[in-house]
Amino acid sequence: MSERRLEVVILAAGQGKRMKSKRIKVLHRAAGRALVDYVLDMSLALSGHAPVMVVGHDREAVVAHCSDRARFATQEQQLGTGHAVLQAVKLLGDLRGADVLVLSGDVPLTRPETLRALLDEHLSRAHGVSMMTMMLDDAGSYGRIVRGPEGNVERIVEAKDASAAELRVREVNAGIYVFRGEELERDLASLSATNAQGEYYLTDAIATARRRKESVGALIAEPIEALGVNSRADLAHVERELVRRAIARLMSEGVTFRNPDSVTIDAQVRIGQDTVVYPFAVLEGETVIGSDCVVGPGVHLKGCRIGNGVEIRTGTVAEDSTVADGATVGPYAHLRGGTVLGEKVKVGNFVETKKAVFGKGAKASHLSYVGDAEIGADCNIGAGTITCNYDGVQKHKTVLEDGVFIGSDTQLVAPIRVGNGAYVGAGSTITKDVPAGALALTRTPQRTIEGWAARRRLERAAKK
Ligand code: UD1
Ligand code: CA
Repeated sequence: MSERRLEVVILAAGQGKRMKSKRIKVLHRAAGRALVDYVLDMSLALSGHAPVMVVGHDREAVVAHCSDRARFATQEQQLGTGHAVLQAVKLLGDLRGADVLVLSGDVPLTRPETLRALLDEHLSRAHGVSMMTMMLDDAGSYGRIVRGPEGNVERIVEAKDASAAELRVREVNAGIYVFRGEELERDLASLSATNAQGEYYLTDAIATARRRKESVGALIAEPIEALGVNSRADLAHVERELVRRAIARLMSEGVTFRNPDSVTIDAQVRIGQDTVVYPFAVLEGETVIGSDCVVGPGVHLKGCRIGNGVEIRTGTVAEDSTVADGATVGPYAHLRGGTVLGEKVKVGNFVETKKAVFGKGAKASHLSYVGDAEIGADCNIGAGTITCNYDGVQKHKTVLEDGVFIGSDTQLVAPIRVGNGAYVGAGSTITKDVPAGALALTRTPQRTIEGWAARRRLERAAKK
C-alpha cells in the first residue's frame, strides 16, 4: 500500500488580514521560529523530500525564508484554497500513483504521528479523500463537516455559506487533507466560485469526490493539533503550546523547572541533565545549556552556548556568547555578542562584556566594562575597571596576558597590552603598554593636612 508516492503541498499565499500586520502570516514567529518552519518540518518527517509551497502575497519574503526547503508555485491572485492547490498540482505534473497531502502554512501544531495515522487510514481504506477534523464547542469561522445519515462525510460547508442548522455542527475542518492524485487536477479545475466569498474553495472537492462515489475519510484530532493561526490571540495560543511542549520534552530529559509556567523558551533550545531553571527565565534562539547548571531567576539568554556546571545568576542578560564549564556569571551581568568565558571564569554583578575572551579562571567580579579584550588565564580585574576601547572613531583592543592584576577603578586606554603577571595599581589611567612582571600606576601622590577640618569649622563660625 505504501507503493504510492507522497507529495506535500503547503498553502502560504494568503496575507492573513486578521493579523493586522505588515508581515505575511506564515512568517510570524512562535517559540522562536516562523509558523511555516513547523509545517516544513512536518512535511519533511512525512515525505522526506521538498514540498511544493504555494506563494503569492509577499512572495519574495516567503521564498527567501524557506529557500532550499521547498519548491514554489506562484498564485498571482488569491482566488481561494482550491485555486491555490491547483497551482501546486500544475507544477507537480503527472500525479498518477501519488497521493497529495495538503497542509496549511498557518496550522503549525499537528504532530507527525497524527498525519501518519491520517495517511495510513487513507491508504488502507482506499479513500478518495481524507481529512483531519476536530470537535469544537465554539466552531467560529471554521468550515463545518456535513455527514450523511450513515455517518459518512458528504461535504464541507464554509461558515459564511452555512445554514443555521449547519452552523450548529461541532465537527469542523482542520484544513489538512490527503487527496488521491489521479483525479485531483480535474476536480480542482472544475470548482466554481459561486459562494459567499466568491472563491474557489478546496473544501468543495470533497463533494466532488462523493459524487463520484468515492469514500471520504475523516480523522478526528485533538483541537490543539488543528489550531489555525488567524489572529494575534491564536498566535499567543500556539506559542503557549510550543513552550509547553518544549518544557515537557526537557523535563523528560532530566531538566528541573522550578516554575515551568513562568519560563519562556524557544523550541530549539537544548538543556542538559540536572540543570535547574528558575522562574521567569527567557531562553531564546539556538541556545544550548549543559548539565548541572543553574539558570537563575529572570535570566535572558539568546543564542548562547553554556557548558556544564555553570551558574548564571539572577537577572543576567547574554547574547551570542559562550561560557565554559564551571563559570559563574551575574547576578545582573550583561554578556554582549562575542563574549567567550573560559573554564571557572567569574563575571560578577554589573559587569558588561563585549567581544571579550576570558582565559581560564579569570575574574571580573564587580562593576566593570570589558570590551574588545583578551583577558589571560587567572587575571583579576578589580571593581570599576573600564576598557576605554573607543576613541570616537575606531574600536581598539585591550590585551591582558596571564595572571595580570588590575586594581580597582582603572581605565585601560586601548590599544593597550599588559604583560604576564604585571600589576596595575588602583585608580590608574593606563595609556602605555605594561611589561611583564612590572607594576604600573598613575596615581597622584596623596596630600594629608592635619587638623584641617577643625580649622574650617572655626572659620565658618567666625563668618556668622
Ligand atoms: C480554511 C477552510 C476551512 C477550514 C480552515 C481551517 C477553505 C475554503 N476553508 O478556511 O474549511 O476550517 O481553513 O484552518 O479552504 N491560501 C492560499 N491562497 C488562497 C487562499 C488561502 O494560499 O487563495 C492559504 C492561506 O495562506 C492559508 C490557508 O490557505 O495558509 C488557509 O487560508 P485561510 O484564508 O486562512 O482559510 P480559512 O478561512 O481559515
Ligand atoms: Ca486559516
